[in-house]
Amino acid sequence: MDIYTFDVVESTNDLARTHIIDRKSEPAAFVAKHQTMGRGRMGRVWKDEPGMNLLVSFALPGNYYANPPLVGMAAAVFIGEYLESLGLSWEAKWPNDVLINGKKVAGVLPEGIWQDTLQGIIVGIGLNVNQSEFPEEYPGTSIKEELQREVALEQPLTYLAKRMEQIYNQEVDYKTVVQVFKNRFALLGKQVKILSKDESWEGIASNINDDGSLLVAAGGKWININWGEVTLR
Ligand code: BTN
Repeated sequence: MDIYTFDVVESTNDLARTHIIDRKSEPAAFVAKHQTMGRGRMGRVWKDEPGMNLLVSFALPGNYYANPPLVGMAAAVFIGEYLESLGLSWEAKWPNDVLINGKKVAGVLPEGIWQDTLQGIIVGIGLNVNQSEFPEEYPGTSIKEELQREVALEQPLTYLAKRMEQIYNQEVDYKTVVQVFKNRFALLGKQVKILSKDESWEGIASNINDDGSLLVAAGGKWININWGEVTLR
């Protein structure tokens, strides 16, 4: 896949969006050393120290994908596999965060691009590689913090580009993705609080469904949650 690298951009997700809107048919990766308006999930900002982390958005044109959240979950699993290849053990946090020892090492921002029908999917990935200081909002870590050595940013990029090509070529088994994610999801079976658009629920995180949604047992009812943030109660 073609990989385009930039020094400074607002958000690599915007470049990937343009690639899809321009009706390019091949997948591509857009990488930046620094983002001035990096976006996180739930309307948050994604900050970075220039040159330290992998900031990449994959543009995957096509209309035949699993839903965007499930593709985002696959990305989280692939990041986890890459960490495992370095000897690091990882945890998953629904819907698509990757943690090491309870600290966030990567986040994924999947976006579906719709114009009547689905035109393609963007998978934005922020992976903390060589950064040593983290925003205070939540506990963070990086590969360097965990391994005590630096890793070239090209390494995870090459690994993830291969895996994204498999998504584009429909070679990914999403049942396995959900299974792996579930096995790594430390909050499964626990009493949690879920913050979604304007609502919040408390209940037991009971399962991850085949479509990547979270099944919660709350007040004698089952609720399927498609979007939100889950924390321990
Ligand atoms: C999260 O909130 O956990 C998701 C973070 C996603 C950040 C990445 S960095 C590359 C891409 N461009 C963005 O603006 N966001 C994603």
